[in-house]
Amino acid sequence: MCGIIAYLGDKNSYPILLEGLRRLEYRGYDSAGIALLNGELSVYKKKGKVQELADLTENKGLFATIGMGHTRWATHGKPDDINAHPHFSGNNRLAIIHNGIIENYATLKEALTRLGHQFESETDTEVLIHLIEEFQNRDKLPLEEAVRKALNKVVGAYAIVVIDKNDPNKLVGARKSSPLVIGLGDKDLFIASDATPIIQYTNKVVYLNDEEIAVLTRDKGLEISTISNDELQEPVIHELDMSMDQLEKGGYEHFMLKEIYQQSQTISDCMRGRLNAIEGWVRLGGLEEHINRINKANRIIIAACGTSWHSALIGEYLIEDLARIPVEVEYASEFRYRNPILTDKDVVLVISQSGETADTLAAAELAKEKGALVYGIVNVVGSSIARMTHAGSYIHCGPEIGVASTKAFTGQVTLLTLMSLVLGQRNGSLSNSYYHQLIAELASIPDKVEKVLASNEKIKYLAGEIKNTNNTLYLGRGYNFPVALEGALKLKEISYIHAEGYPAAEMKHGPIALIDENMPVIVIATNVSAYEKIVSNIMEVKARKGIVIAIVTEGDVEIKRIADHCIEIPSTIDPLTPLLSVIPLQLLSYHVAVMRQCDVDQPRNLAKSVTVE
Ligand code: F6R
Repeated sequence: MCGIIAYLGDKNSYPILLEGLRRLEYRGYDSAGIALLNGELSVYKKKGKVQELADLTENKGLFATIGMGHTRWATHGKPDDINAHPHFSGNNRLAIIHNGIIENYATLKEALTRLGHQFESETDTEVLIHLIEEFQNRDKLPLEEAVRKALNKVVGAYAIVVIDKNDPNKLVGARKSSPLVIGLGDKDLFIASDATPIIQYTNKVVYLNDEEIAVLTRDKGLEISTISNDELQEPVIHELDMSMDQLEKGGYEHFMLKEIYQQSQTISDCMRGRLNAIEGWVRLGGLEEHINRINKANRIIIAACGTSWHSALIGEYLIEDLARIPVEVEYASEFRYRNPILTDKDVVLVISQSGETADTLAAAELAKEKGALVYGIVNVVGSSIARMTHAGSYIHCGPEIGVASTKAFTGQVTLLTLMSLVLGQRNGSLSNSYYHQLIAELASIPDKVEKVLASNEKIKYLAGEIKNTNNTLYLGRGYNFPVALEGALKLKEISYIHAEGYPAAEMKHGPIALIDENMPVIVIATNVSAYEKIVSNIMEVKARKGIVIAIVTEGDVEIKRIADHCIEIPSTIDPLTPLLSVIPLQLLSYHVAVMRQCDVDQPRNLAKSVTVE
């Protein structure tokens, strides 16, 4: 949710922190702040985007070789200058930045108030730094020991960095259920929420594990211990394979547009080394060791949130259709709290772009505790979910910076298709001929994605037709039902137009009452199997004067006669349709949002990585 960056080295940290905050801004953008230690411990913070902070601090000649920065997505306390991070301790000696929620902050605040502490902000974070201060002063502890003691009193989730005015050679970071990565440069040390602000300086990183404390000093470098004791742990250094151009817009107006256009490439990347259309095979390294257990599972449960939950629904259709294993799809947030029945005969797939979503992570932990095999489908390499699952597969889409997920969705669906093919072929559910037909067709999808992207101008025109509407309905059947949900989610999150996705046949059980001449209805009508049924659904909308925009297969005649507007996509077989039919919906939302002058990459109230409940 929030973004954290801290620096200790021989360079001026001010530009490094500012640049780092810009890279992290997709994680939260309610307010931003920095603390710089150069004799004095100075804090600058401002409500709004990082640019507001940059405007506040430019031309001040700021210089410090140690400092930290934060970009916030508000949980406790409204977004304003006071609630922005960093927060000072009462004696202004310490400062903290924090991502997460301190659940028992009210009790701690009460106890600290009784001891004479006074608070300026409404945040849980300020309570934590006062608690650290209390232990530092009372027990005369070095900073890391005071942090350790305070964290032992805290209930909740956190990633923090603390700085001490009296110790300009030290940064202390710690995490529990919120990510932190340490970057190891030649002469520089970094702490950040993810690797995006670090990668331009070093590709050597250490992922801090849950309940670990990192102490960064100029003389000893990085030392890691745990929150429960001070015994040193051996850091595991990873080399990141990420390049700077993956983090730039590359000539596109927005990251979202770049990421929509990348999809032909990212789908290919996801299949690379895993599918060979000429030799006619599909393999998934992560799956191999567990394939018998998965094929014999009582059922597969897929847990995820948001867009990843929509991929999970497509996963259900794919796995049941192609591999004949029963599948249930769960909202991770519901699953984790509803005492589900799980045994070691169940397999739980967790799907997450970021690999950090708190509810999905907790669902995976619960499944593991109950003995299920937990398999992750994740984009961000080294993320918490990727590291805690028994096995898994990366979707290899590269960094997704636009807050609205696009290329991760098609990556997840591609991975689920590969997985269904492997399982179905191995357990004998798929006929040899259908297996080879699917492989050949899947291999052709990247080219077909290019063809869909070529309809951009037409889609832009249609965006102009619906940009002033207040409501829209998205309808689809079969494999296109989750696509309808995803299309509706994209529109509401970036253009703030109310949109609902429905299975087309369910429309007559309620939503049909909404349809009149002002209601655009977007129908994903590419199905081979239920074509006549979807035609009837379109007729039902037209009979009530609804405006129909249909996504149809190239060469369609019947729907073109009845719909107001059609967008054609190349023909494919039903299970692969979502990989193509979602793309016009992504572009449609994008253009509507641009026309409505919305902040496409950083929509209001949202954040890319939801690391709090
Ligand atoms: C929608 C979107 C969110 C995420 C959801 C899960 O465009 O981005 O709905 O899909 O927050 O995030 P991950 O996949 O990172 O677990």
